[in-house]
Amino acid sequence: MKLEGKVALITGSAQGIGRAIALRLAREGADIVVDDRADDSRAESTLAEVQALGRRGCVVSGDLGTVADDRRVVADAVAKMGRLDILVNNGGVEKNASFLEVTEQDYELVLNVNLRGAFFTSQAFAQHLQQTRRPGRIINISSVHEELPFPHFSPYCASKGGLKMLMRNLAIELAPLGITVNNVAPGAIATPINRPAWETPEALESLLKLIPYKRVGQAIDIGKAAVWLASDDSDYVNGQTLFVDGGMTLFPEFADGG
Ligand code: BGC
Repeated sequence: MKLEGKVALITGSAQGIGRAIALRLAREGADIVVDDRADDSRAESTLAEVQALGRRGCVVSGDLGTVADDRRVVADAVAKMGRLDILVNNGGVEKNASFLEVTEQDYELVLNVNLRGAFFTSQAFAQHLQQTRRPGRIINISSVHEELPFPHFSPYCASKGGLKMLMRNLAIELAPLGITVNNVAPGAIATPINRPAWETPEALESLLKLIPYKRVGQAIDIGKAAVWLASDDSDYVNGQTLFVDGGMTLFPEFADGG
């Protein structure tokens, strides 16, 4: 097991990619803090699966789009588990609208959750490591759209592009504390966030045209990448984005057809 004795907080881990990351990290020996907007049955069921793997864990909840909650989520996690070693900034939202029709409300929701949430959660986590003089790992789940345009998802692209530069900056500022910072950039992974893109045969067919490897990703593909970035196997990797997308980023056609 690669993560024995580590404690990991994964934001947005009641479902989708976050849940798969939580379970994969648990399988490698990490104790897990499940976080989601509401401390509901889905978060509890992720926790139950973590515990079934023989790990300790707890649920914390908060609105990632609120700075006070970002800080409180980290503080609650430390209070319940004693400490944290790994932070996975996974929680995110997206809204489909042409640029001309994006509302202020949707812009703020997407930017606040995806970018400001990761910013202040990382800050609270890094402060905790600094105070306890311990190294750690920050892994942001960004997107191929930290690089690749995604028409009709401008706030989402702005948030993920921001997450790329945030990661690169923190990789420099936090390295002296023994904290590495990297991104995982998923391509099209079948989860609730993008259900319309894969749920009908027609949608699936046009999605697969954009993926050289000709399969839609599964949440576990991202879980495996997160384990690697959280483990000693990637100790010398810092300030990088690992694209897990079946080659989607290589297709410039995406910007026309996406
Ligand atoms: C988005 C999905 C999209 C995928 C590939 C992800 O970041 O959340 O909606 O299907 O990128 O374009």
